[in-house]
Formats: sequence, C-alpha cells, structure tokens
Amino acid sequence: MEVVPLSPALGAEIRGVDASRPIADATFAGVLEAWHRYQVILLRGQSLTEDEQVRFARRFGELSPIHTSHHSETNKAVMYIGNRKKDGKIVGALPLGEMQFHSDQCYRERPAAGTMLYSIEIPKEGGNTLFANAYKAYDALPADARLRIEGRKAVQVYDYDGGVLDRKNMVAPKDGMSYAHPVARTHPATGRKALYVNRLMTHHIEGLADEESEQLLDLMFRTIERPEFTYEHRWRVGDLLLWDNRCTLHARRDFNPDENRWMRRVTIQGDRPR
Ligand SMILES: [Fe+2]
Repeated sequence: MEVVPLSPALGAEIRGVDASRPIADATFAGVLEAWHRYQVILLRGQSLTEDEQVRFARRFGELSPIHTSHHSETNKAVMYIGNRKKDGKIVGALPLGEMQFHSDQCYRERPAAGTMLYSIEIPKEGGNTLFANAYKAYDALPADARLRIEGRKAVQVYDYDGGVLDRKNMVAPKDGMSYAHPVARTHPATGRKALYVNRLMTHHIEGLADEESEQLLDLMFRTIERPEFTYEHRWRVGDLLLWDNRCTLHARRDFNPDENRWMRRVTIQGDRPR
C-alpha cells in the first residue's frame, strides 16, 4: 500500500488496495490512518458492485440510512446521485447543477461521519467536486473571531430545494430537518478543532443578532473557501473517494445536463458533534 498526497490542502491517493476484496486488518489500519491524516482518500481504478462497496464502507463504521426516499431499493444507506433517466424521467438524487460547500447531513442530530462516493459515469467536462479543509480554516480564523464562536452553536437546515445558491432564499429551520451543532467541533479521532458551518445549510448562529451572525458566518465561509485550503477533484470512472464530513466540506461544479453523471454514495454514521 502506498499513500500519495493529492494537494497541499488535503487528500491522498491510496494505491495498491482493491476495495472489492476482503482487506486484511493491518492493511485496513493503514487506510484508516491515512483517512484521519489526509481527510479525503481516493482509490482509483476500482470496480465495485453495490454489495462490495457497502462491505468496504462497513469497515469504517455503522452505515447511515438516508431519511428521504432517495435511497437505493436494495440498501437504505446507498444513494444513486446523478441524472440518468428512465422513461424520460431523472432517477437519481441531487441530479444537476452547481452545489455550494456543505457537510453531509449536518442538519441531523448524528450526521454522517464519512461519505463514500464511487464514480460510474462522468461528463467529459465539469461536475468536479471541491473539498475544503475545515481544520485549516479554523486555525486561520483571527483570534477575536475564534473567541466569538467559542461555545456557540449554529442551526443547520435541510434545504436542497431552495436557497441552493442564494442564502437569502434559505428555508426556515423546522423540526426533524434542522439541528443546532457547535460552530467549531472537535474530531473524535484526531482531537483537532474544525469549523462546522457551511454556505448551503447553516442558517444562523444561536444567541447572536442576525447581523453579527451573518457577518461571522460570511468570514468563516470565505476562510473555508480560500484556494490554499481546497482541493478540486476531477473524476475518472472507477474512482472511489471517501471524505470526512467532520473536518471537510465539499461542493460541486456545474456540468452539461445533456451528459450523464452517475455516482453511488454510501454514508457512514457519525456521533453527535461536540
Ligand atoms: Fe454532499
């Protein structure tokens, strides 16, 4: 097994591991260590059935079922993301367009620790996924901003339909589809602090006036999105990528809707952020 960094910001490619086959404990320990260290790991050239991907994902922990109707018929923790059509109708979840930085399921009490995406079909251009290092963003915040967010929580909402590109159109928080989590959370494995707010789903910081909340959020979003803290992944068919939602954010670039993009996603259950 070989671990090759993908960028100065975060991410590493792991070579010499076939995720479709059972993996020895010692090898898996190396994979897990690389995931914690680099936050995003990539295995290229994989060929995986749904069951094989689920089995590999299970090595990282319990799986996290999807709460909407978007899960696969065969496994509730599996979701197909993309714009393939059946009888003229799109059959995948989150099929099209650009998507702002976010952390998966952050509006739930126990959001996904990890998301594993396997690339089955990709457009010729576009549809790249961007990853941001939320540890580096926390460390780079000015000291007074770190003090102002200390001990505070932010309300996260599920809002994939409205407000995707404009925060002014965000939906209001509502029961079951929103949750307040620490603005900065501590990663249970590394002990490091990471910013846990994002442009797509963070509604406001609790206990602050609207203006101060929006100002602080804007500063954090801009810090998270600094180019030196991000890595842009250009997909190839057969890429298997696992990101850590506890210390990274991800976003998607737009792509030509006439071309197919098809990914299989499995989410791994996390703890309540603290
Ligand atoms: Fe996502």
